[in-house]
Order: sequence, then C-alpha cells, then structure tokens
Amino acid sequence: PVSVPPAPVLLGFAAIAANRADAITVPAGYTAKPFLAWGTPIAGTYPDFLEDASNTAVEQAMQMGMNHDGMHFFPINVRSGGESSTEGLLVMNHEYVEPNVLHPQGPVLPRPAEQTAKEIAAHGVSVVHIEKTAQGEWQVVANSPFNRRITGETPMELAGPVRGHAKVVTKYSPDGSRTRGTLNNCAHGYTPWGTYLTAEENWAGYFMNSDETQVREHRRYGVGRSNGRYFWETATPTADRFSRFNASTIAASASEDYRNEPNTFGWIVEIDPFNPDSVPQKRTALGRFAHEGIVFANVTEGEPLVAYSGDDARDEYIYKYVSKAPYFKNTAGGHLLNEGTLYVARFNADGSGDWLALDINNPEFVAKAAVAGVVFSDQADVLLNTRLAADVAGATKMDRPEWGAVHPETSEVYFTLTNNTARTEANVDPANPRANNTTGHIIRWKERNSIAAVQFDWDIFLLAGDVGTATPGTDLVLTADNHLASPDGLWFDNNGLLWIQTDMSGSQQSSGPYGNNQMLVADPQSRQIKRFLVGPTDCEVTGVIMTPDHRTMFVNIQHPGDRSTATNFTSNWPAGGTSRPRSATVIITKDDGGIIGS
Ligand code: FEO
Ligand code: CA
Ligand code: CA
Ligand code: CA
Repeated sequence: PVSVPPAPVLLGFAAIAANRADAITVPAGYTAKPFLAWGTPIAGTYPDFLEDASNTAVEQAMQMGMNHDGMHFFPINVRSGGESSTEGLLVMNHEYVEPNVLHPQGPVLPRPAEQTAKEIAAHGVSVVHIEKTAQGEWQVVANSPFNRRITGETPMELAGPVRGHAKVVTKYSPDGSRTRGTLNNCAHGYTPWGTYLTAEENWAGYFMNSDETQVREHRRYGVGRSNGRYFWETATPTADRFSRFNASTIAASASEDYRNEPNTFGWIVEIDPFNPDSVPQKRTALGRFAHEGIVFANVTEGEPLVAYSGDDARDEYIYKYVSKAPYFKNTAGGHLLNEGTLYVARFNADGSGDWLALDINNPEFVAKAAVAGVVFSDQADVLLNTRLAADVAGATKMDRPEWGAVHPETSEVYFTLTNNTARTEANVDPANPRANNTTGHIIRWKERNSIAAVQFDWDIFLLAGDVGTATPGTDLVLTADNHLASPDGLWFDNNGLLWIQTDMSGSQQSSGPYGNNQMLVADPQSRQIKRFLVGPTDCEVTGVIMTPDHRTMFVNIQHPGDRSTATNFTSNWPAGGTSRPRSATVIITKDDGGIIGS
C-alpha cells in the first residue's frame, strides 16, 4: 500500500440517518457531486448524451455504459511508482442495462438489431482519463489516447489452462483461443502491476440452451432453457453477433456452431488500461463461476501471488488462487494468473478453515471425485466446471459471497455474505448461522503462517440487521447510526477503514427500516461503524475508491429508479425534475480539504 498520513480523527464525522430521499446524502462538512453519468461521451467522436435516450448503438459505444459497478483509480504515473492524486485513469464496470431507460420507448420484441446492439454496447468497462483542474473540479481529458470503451462484443483472448480446449471452440474461434465481449461485470479487482480486472458474474442469464439435457457447463450455472434475459438471441435481422447467445444443439449447424459460447464466459478478465490497443485476457486459471470480483493478498517479494474471489449465488463458495511462480515486483505480470492452484474454502465449526485444492494432480481431490463418480478429463475441464469441482471437494456452502477486502497491514481478509433466504434451520452452520438470512453478514479470516497457507482461522465480524442486532462473541450491537442489510461492496482504504456498501432489494428498501441503499464505514479494531452515505431512490451503492491522498473519493450509484417503466421514472437522479434516471459516479470531498472518513 501507498503511504497515507493517518487522519487526525478517523470517523470524526456525525453519522447520517437512514432516509428515502431521491438524492445523495453525505455527512455535514462533505460534498457529493455526480460525474460520468451513463451516456457521458468519453471516446471516439464524443457524441453528446441525448436526454430522450435516442443515442444510437454506435454512439453508446463512445459513451459511458449503464449500471456502474466496481471501479479503480490508477494514478497516471502509477507504472513508474507515482501516486498522483490529480490525474489518473478511472476504470469501471457496467454490470447490466435497464432497457426501459436505455431506449426512448422501452424494449421491443422480437428484439430489433439496433436496440440489441445498443444494449450490448452499454455493457462492459469504461477507461476514462480524468484530471483535477486548478479550480479543483474533476473532468474528462478529451481526446486522451487512454479513453476507451470495452463492450459486450470487444474481441478478447482466453488465457491459461482452458485456452485451446475443445469445449471453447466456436465458429468465431475454431482454435478455442478467442471470444467476444464481457458481460455482467460486477465488483472488480486490480493487480499489483497496475492492470484492471473485471469479473463476469451473472453471465449465464444472457444465454439460452433448449436442449432436453444441458451439458454440465451450462446446467450447473443456470443457463435458461427458453430465452436469454434480454432475448438478444431473437435479434432481427439475425446476425452471428446475436445468434451466438443461443447455445442449443438444434441451433447449431456445421457452419454456425455456438454450443460452446457460454463456456467462454464466467471468467476474470484482465485489461491493461495504459495500453488502449491491448486485447483483454480471460484468465481461466482463476476458475469459472459467478465471479463477484477479485482481491489480492498483500504481496511480498519472493512469495506466491494470492487472490480471493467469491461466487455470488445462494449456497456457492469462496475461492483462493495461489500462483505457481513467486511474485517479484520487477517481473510481475499476467503470466502469474495463468499458472497456479485454485482452492475452495471449508469453514470448520471450531473456527479453523481449510483451503481444498481443485487440482487434477492432487491425490485427495482425485480420490473425492472417484467417490462422487465425477470424471474430469483434464485441469481445463476442472476449471470449466469449478462449481462441480468445489462440490466434490466438500467446500462450505455460503450465503452469497460478494466483495472481499484485505486489511492493508494485518492481511486479514473480510468478505460480505449478502443474504440467503434459501438457508433453512436444517442447514445452518457456524459460518452461515442464520436460517432465512435476509440481512446478511461479514465473515473474516487470517491465513496461518503465510498468505499461501492451506489453513486459516475465521470469525464473524458483523451480523447485519435492524437496530439491536448483536454479533455473538463481540460487543457490537447495531444502532440507528449503523443498522444495515445486504452488505455487498467492501473496500479497505490505506488507513485501515473498512467501507461497506449495501444492495438491498427494492422491497427491502421500501418496506424495511433501512431506507435506501447506503455506504457505511467501520473501524475493524474498535468495531465502531457509522453511516456515511445514502443513495437516491431504487439504486444500489456499489464501487468505491479514493485518490492516494485520500482527499477525493469516487462512489458508484447503480440503477437509480430501477423500477421505472418507459413512461414513469421512479427516480430522477442525478439531474432532477422529470429527467431520466442515470447511473453515475459520485465525487466526494471534504469541504475543509481533509481526509475522507475523518
Ligand atoms: Fe452484481 Fe453480486 O452483485
Ligand atoms: Ca455486488
Ligand atoms: Ca448484490
Ligand atoms: Ca447490481
């Protein structure tokens, strides 16, 4: 971590109240301003955003995408060890789209090619070169060579053990080395060598496969039988770029075979934001699941590179990757993500934990697979079927793992478990202790001896819920200053403050005691927690990063007004009046120029 002068008083601000305003609320002494809303021109010919949503698909691909999610700020001079807090690349995900808001009259069936292409273009990632003016305002650096949109159809490569495998061969890539686009990019990650990682979460929903018995690479991930979530496969006039979302055997002919297209999704994708011509790399060694994001352990010269990633679905797992080659600052790069061991977590009742290898050369794993009657042809087959491999290994089924965060000094790992209404009294366990877990919790662990260890010790940091909710074994009892539900985004700043963002459902926001989705901040040592930000109506608060000096914070507001129809918007944030709701970044500063969180 970079060196940040400790704030004079951390958590010195007055906690704000829960509320349901169609606005951003921050503590007294802080200011929040919207920035880079959906549709803001950032590349190409920089086409202006049109308030009636009549921008074309081609224009959308030069503008900010929709539904901002995880993000990172790369200081412009980070590659040379610099820590600029006035200029850098802000890189962020666009998780999915709201068709009712994206198109002037909402979506039409069967899908017109133009609407479909616009939706695909509003997905993906934005790389935006930004700078702070002498007046202290952040702006886009127009015509910067770094400004770039990556979309749901940008050419990408498969890297690591799955590259070239028979199960990723498609018409587009007969040698199984390439695919088009990244979809449903949630949370994110960034590497110690200054690249961005985007995580493919609910990609399965974009595909369909009507086969009576789907292949396990589709079935175990929930690919639908009748249609994709946006019916892209129905786009008219039909074209290969749309029909690829139908992976049914019956749709495949010798000349147009996309049965394997879904197998090219479900990965962590590495993007070099400083090389606008770079081809994004899908890093298959990190496993295939509903990747929420990825977070690295603090690196040490000569030790392996270690990363954690959660699979956000009910009763899915938390994973750890350990590189085969050691990390050295001077030679670190994407190759460290191509060869290593993928583990899955088992949380034992006595507070210990085990990392179970998903490795076809590991005798224990091979023996378990034999007992379960599961056959994997090679390590690529294990990775394509990561969820099945984790079932075989006997991992602990979790309450929807979302973001992870690593303490900058202690290396403790924290993970949000957002909720799990499918957990019953019969299957609670110490790490997931509540049946019908509607409000979620945060678990944490510390590796034994070294970051690459296969054993750890864990406890529960926080049980979320209404005022009065207590976390057993601690003196934490939630109050009106910090009651919360459905924790999701999670990030440690370099002062060791833990920022927690919520993703409550619409009904939990409208009927619960929590108000709109929000962001809180915790001191993990004292367990003091305060509410710092409340978002506008029907949004999710997700994605947070600061400049190295801790004096500018960027927070993403996703899908304000997500219960809108094409004619009735349930939020008008950020422009107000009767305007169209737009996902946007929010820039937060302290009015006295101080450190955010003080
Ligand atoms: Fe896209 Fe699990 O949040
Ligand atoms: Ca999330
Ligand atoms: Ca969520
Ligand atoms: Ca979301």
